Amino acid sequence: MLKKLVLFVLFDLAFRIESANPPYGQLQITGTHVTNSSGSSVQLRGMSLYFSMWQSQFWNWDTVMRLRYGWNANIVRAPMGITNGGYLDSPEYNYGLMKAVIEAAINQGVYVIVDWHEEFAFQHYTQAIQFFTNISATYGNYPHIIYEIYNEPNGNVSWSTIKWYAEQVIPAIRKNDPNNIIVLGTPSWSSRVDTAANDPLNSTYSKNVAYTLHYYANVSSSQNDWQRNITTYAINKGLPIFITEYGTVNYTGNGAVNPTESQKWWNYADQNSLSYCNWAIDIVNESAAALISGTTASNVGNSSYWTTSGRLVANKLWSTTQFPSSG
Ligand SMILES: *[C@@H]1O[C@H](CO)[C@@H](O)[C@H](O)[C@H]1NC(C)=O
Ligand SMILES: *[C@@H]1O[C@H](CO)[C@@H](O)[C@H](O)[C@H]1NC(C)=O
Ligand SMILES: *[C@@H]1O[C@H](CO)[C@@H](O)[C@H](O)[C@H]1NC(C)=O
Ligand SMILES: *[C@@H]1O[C@H](CO)[C@@H](O)[C@H](O)[C@H]1NC(C)=O
Ligand SMILES: *[C@@H]1O[C@H](CO)[C@@H](O)[C@H](O)[C@H]1NC(C)=O
Ligand SMILES: *[C@@H]1O[C@H](CO)[C@@H](O)[C@H](O)[C@H]1NC(C)=O
Ligand SMILES: *[C@@H]1O[C@H](CO)[C@@H](O)[C@H](O)[C@H]1NC(C)=O
Ligand SMILES: *[C@@H]1O[C@H](CO)[C@@H](O)[C@H](O)[C@H]1NC(C)=O
Ligand SMILES: *[C@@H]1O[C@H](CO)[C@@H](O)[C@H](O)[C@H]1NC(C)=O
Repeated sequence: MLKKLVLFVLFDLAFRIESANPPYGQLQITGTHVTNSSGSSVQLRGMSLYFSMWQSQFWNWDTVMRLRYGWNANIVRAPMGITNGGYLDSPEYNYGLMKAVIEAAINQGVYVIVDWHEEFAFQHYTQAIQFFTNISATYGNYPHIIYEIYNEPNGNVSWSTIKWYAEQVIPAIRKNDPNNIIVLGTPSWSSRVDTAANDPLNSTYSKNVAYTLHYYANVSSSQNDWQRNITTYAINKGLPIFITEYGTVNYTGNGAVNPTESQKWWNYADQNSLSYCNWAIDIVNESAAALISGTTASNVGNSSYWTTSGRLVANKLWSTTQFPSSG
């Protein structure tokens, strides 16, 4: 007992980060909603970064601080690449980038999604368990943390495989962190929330778990209507949903920005109190990029550096109350 206490004190000192409270404190899932600890629905709206190994220049405190104050984002998503130079190839490098973003979010008082950004995550479940064990042991006592354990299951990965993976990874997190929200991908690149709603995780695993919906707005309006329809179906069946990634363009990341369809999605998400993060803070030469070529972390908050998509999304974020307690 004493030994445990001493270790705890040392641990606490070693990992103390200057922390600012996130706007809604400790979150939980209540019914189909993300809520604060008294059960009132809250909405998180913000930006996703881009694959850690390809746009690492934005995986830092500077960017997170500017997303907080220049974009009015109350959440940042950190999509850590796994293959192609990601975590499996360079674990220390990618872990270091993740650590920088997590600690910046804790410091700035915004929520952070720790995203295992892979389509075949079930093939690397031992590494995912190891990674999320580490993250939950290190940061799980901060209410800022949200775990996204499986970004977008490839179209040929079955729901039973996704569930099997979740049943391996969730208990590893829960050993260290009983509270913070875990988000689980759904079939077909996180588009089939209806499939998850027909057969959700059971009560051994489902506490404070939400399920992922991803959408890209510049597809036909009938496709968007259909996607919202199956989302409503899933919500009516009791499924909590979290939009960890969406685009104003099509799912290739390119082509036109579609303000009309984007607005319909925002209206829908706001009416249903769904949280959402836009893809993405990057300068890749594609229209989903929120920043123009040449932007550095120090310019992320300067609107002169925002693309058409970036301006549309920033205007949306500034039109909403994201930090009610600080006015
Ligand atoms: C939860 O939100 C409601 C509505 O904004 C607020 O009245 C309540 O104090 C909040 N609870 C906590 C624990 O922050
Ligand atoms: C987590 O991983 C990092 C990087 O490998 C390491 O420095 C740290 O000690 C690990 N922490 C825990 C609690 O496992
Ligand atoms: C699933 O898709 C991947 C990538 O397209 C492919 O490599 C793999 O062979 C496919 N698996 C099955 C079972 O179809
Ligand atoms: C939940 O599912 C697991 C395996 O899929 C099973 O071992 C467990 O008994 C189930 N728990 C409940 C409460 O149904
Ligand atoms: C929406 O879903 C309902 C069933 O939930 C179905 O009857 C209806 O045809 C669907 N509409 C569209 C546009 O997909
Ligand atoms: C997405 O945009 C790209 C670039 O304009 C275009 O080549 C592609 O056909 C579009 N895809 C869809 C599904 O609209
Ligand atoms: C999506 O963008 C392309 C231009 O890349 C445009 O031609 C097309 O009409 C848009 N699709 C929809 C459904 O609005
Ligand atoms: C950016 O991509 C477009 C095609 O989408 C291409 O025409 C253009 O040359 C590219 N610009 C650079 C600097 O690579
Ligand atoms: C934003 O960037 C523009 C273009 O580089 C520059 O002229 C302007 O001074 C910057 N604004 C601020 C507030 O730094």
